[in-house]
Amino acid sequence: QPPPMPSNRFVLVIGGLGYIGSHTVLELLRAGHNVIVVDNLSNCYETVLRNVTTLIEAHCQANGTSPPLFHFHRLDYRSRAMCLLLESYSDLVITIDASGKQHMTYSSRITGVIHFAAYKSVLDSIKRPLQYYQNNVCGLVSLLQRLDAYAIHNFIFSSSATVYGSKANSGLPLREDDLTHDSSPCSSTVGLSCPYARTKYFAEAILADAAAANPRWRIVALRYFNPVGCDPSGLLGESPRAEATNLYPILSQVLTGARPALDVFGTDWKTRDGTAIRDYVHVLDVARGHIAALGWNTADNNTSEKSGGAGGFRAFNLGSGSGTTVLEAVHSLEEVAKKSIPVRWAGRRPGDVGACVASTERAQRELGWVPREGIAQCAADLWNFVRKAVKPAQ
Ligand code: NAD
Ligand code: WQD
Repeated sequence: QPPPMPSNRFVLVIGGLGYIGSHTVLELLRAGHNVIVVDNLSNCYETVLRNVTTLIEAHCQANGTSPPLFHFHRLDYRSRAMCLLLESYSDLVITIDASGKQHMTYSSRITGVIHFAAYKSVLDSIKRPLQYYQNNVCGLVSLLQRLDAYAIHNFIFSSSATVYGSKANSGLPLREDDLTHDSSPCSSTVGLSCPYARTKYFAEAILADAAAANPRWRIVALRYFNPVGCDPSGLLGESPRAEATNLYPILSQVLTGARPALDVFGTDWKTRDGTAIRDYVHVLDVARGHIAALGWNTADNNTSEKSGGAGGFRAFNLGSGSGTTVLEAVHSLEEVAKKSIPVRWAGRRPGDVGACVASTERAQRELGWVPREGIAQCAADLWNFVRKAVKPAQ
């Protein structure tokens, strides 16, 4: 058990009631961090807050520890209220130099920020690109300016394997240097398939530029592959307001009878069973990756030398490092649910790639992060959550 965080220090988690955010908040609290969550509930429900509180109280009771501080603010991170929130967690420091001139700076009680808030649907981003650029890119720029004003520079960003675009088609595990934000030839943005992917690419480029210009920034972009599963308690999972489009949430809907069958998009990929390969990674492993990244930044590892002169900006893949086909994913859930999942063969989904698998070597070597769970555990935890969430028929 790590020593408790000083009671006046916090990690700020923006979008912290969403799927990955809520699991990360839970892991932060379990590790003894005080947490402030900001979320506007645009893609989640407030019940998540209650469930995180229940889980952390049970955890602390079992361990005989007192719960860390946990504050929730329902607001849009782009609003003026966000500025007031940053102010309320900061102390004004006035210094007087040798010439008698006064200098005012802030010392924040926020030691690090994890920024999950964004819109994330590929299809929706094609229909509403400006809303996506506004929330995922413009919002980010204003946020960085506000954080800089309050001298908060430890920043973890939710990026995505989608930034690799068509580079995934090489069939090789993707390495972080396959997409960089310097002037090297490999930094060109070939084949980004939708506005959502471009928001993540632009956001990373902005972060890299900010870090190159201001040496105080310590920025990590975590490129998630396909986060799945949930906390084994079954109290926390993926329960968005938006319609499900990802494979595992759709598979759960088939299992509960909310959908008749899974449409398998593409059966002619060059893979072992003809269906597409993805790197599914347990969401709690992803959550732990954020804690590793925060600590890595805090220990001042994120330096210009590592980034090849680009300041304190570094990207890391968070994946399991192994690939699973769509049919293998179907079987993983059939096995734990002891039910068969009807499938229909469908054509390829536009913009899809045949395979997308992470090299996790950099995260393992530099962050000391090692994914613990495999696809079987992901499926077991997901099914546990789905079973608990479905009300038994009267
Ligand atoms: P999510 O939609 O479940 O969580 C995002 C949270 O942010 C939601 O709770 C939403 O209410 C909140 N939010 C959105 N805009 C906001 C705003 N303007 N102000 C305040 N709160 C706001 O999504 P997730 O799956 O947890 O993903 C988190 C992040 O990870 C996103 O940035 C997403 O693009 C990225 N990502 C997700 C995946 C995935 O497969 N889930 C993969 C790669 C990257
Ligand atoms: C996985 C595989 C589908 C649904 C997306 C985003 C990416 C990232 C994660 C945020 C693919 C197949 C799916 C279905 C199917 N999100 N499938 N039938 O496409 O790897 O990535 O989510 O950053 O940006 O693009 O994930 O879960 O949608 O699909 O056959 O009904 O399952 O074709 O091969 P994807 P996914």
